[in-house]
Amino acid sequence: MKQTRNVALITGGARGIGQGIAARLTRDGWRVVLADRDAPASAPPESRFQSADVSDEAAVRGLVDGISAQEGGLDALICNAGFMIRKPIGALSLDEWQSVIGTNLTSTFLLARAAEPLLRASKGAIVTIASTRAHQSEPNTESYAASKGGLLALTHALAISLGPDIRANCVSPGWIDTKASELSAEDHAQHPAGCVGRVEDVASLVAWLIGPESGFVTGAEFVIDGGMTRKMIYAE
Ligand SMILES: NC(=O)c1ccc[n+]([C@@H]2O[C@H](COP(=O)([O-])OP(=O)(O)OC[C@H]3O[C@@H](n4cnc5c(N)ncnc54)[C@H](O)[C@@H]3O)[C@@H](O)[C@H]2O)c1
Repeated sequence: MKQTRNVALITGGARGIGQGIAARLTRDGWRVVLADRDAPASAPPESRFQSADVSDEAAVRGLVDGISAQEGGLDALICNAGFMIRKPIGALSLDEWQSVIGTNLTSTFLLARAAEPLLRASKGAIVTIASTRAHQSEPNTESYAASKGGLLALTHALAISLGPDIRANCVSPGWIDTKASELSAEDHAQHPAGCVGRVEDVASLVAWLIGPESGFVTGAEFVIDGGMTRKMIYAE
């Protein structure tokens, strides 16, 4: 039987931004399923942890079947799991390239495909977590940049194919401090907004995107980077 609460699946929900989104959504009254390769150190009440490698087709199928059986439906899919390999392209193996593409991009294809019937039934929403690196790069980040650029494009494709039943939007964070790091005054000051981002900043945007007040928003990208990608930088 369908939960009375709305149900959200958050991938990569064991720590970092995914954990922050889970905390926000459970506070807002959502039932949350956290899917991660690693178990969370702590999980909010009204959440269930499911161990899963979201780049694995069978694991994704099992994850979504489990939600259907246990939660009885799905209202929001938040594709957040991701990681980066920084290596000169000459040293990057094909396996490494494919592992980044598998987790950061292919997983969203697998999840959206498996969850389509549940999300259509609920008139639900998908949010993908890409990166400002979909648009700009540091050296030696080819696989990550390609995965995030692909994820941005996949998101607008999903919005067109799955609408009007399902909305799909992309959030592209800049620098988000996930570890309560010791940051310098310069770290903060270089951002036009005056500070490095927090997981709560991303979580509040995601909460709005899967909520009832964003019904006219689909296929869009939301850059949340304190203005960094709008800043023109020339060497002195
Ligand atoms: N933190 C930032 O500054 C920043 C900036 C831009 C984009 N992002 C993106 O935001 C998302 C979250 O980043 P974060 O900083 O919280 O990272 P994080 O490393 O703190 O957390 C990522 C989580 O994803 C999980 N994960 C990784 N691969 C997985 C897989 N195949 N299956 C299941 N779980 C998997 C990890 O175990 C981890 O719990 C990522 O997609 C990342 O690319 C982060």
